[in-house]
Amino acid sequence: MSSYVTVAKKSDIREGRGKAFTVKGKRIAVFNVDGENFYALDNTCAHALGPLGRGRVKSGLVICPVHGYAYDIKTGECQTDARLRVTSYAVAVEGDEVKVNC
Ligand code: FES
Repeated sequence: MSSYVTVAKKSDIREGRGKAFTVKGKRIAVFNVDGENFYALDNTCAHALGPLGRGRVKSGLVICPVHGYAYDIKTGECQTDARLRVTSYAVAVEGDEVKVNC
């Protein structure tokens, strides 16, 4: 059953960057676009298991730090290889808390 879990404070994740958290046994990367808009994807890149949470956010995409594959930050669809995708999770920001639905 899915439910929202608090993973961080807004200030825990730098703008334009991500950070990985373990939520209900899953490694989930949460990204801070601009201090107000946050998104969450599986932390594990579908190409060769790179850590997406260490990637950069650019123009609605998350760029994997290993080989540079780009993922849509909202859907998890890979823009570099259309056969690949990662799971995306709904995020809610309440006050200073960032919550992920998983
Ligand atoms: S592991 Fe992410 S692009 Fe290769």
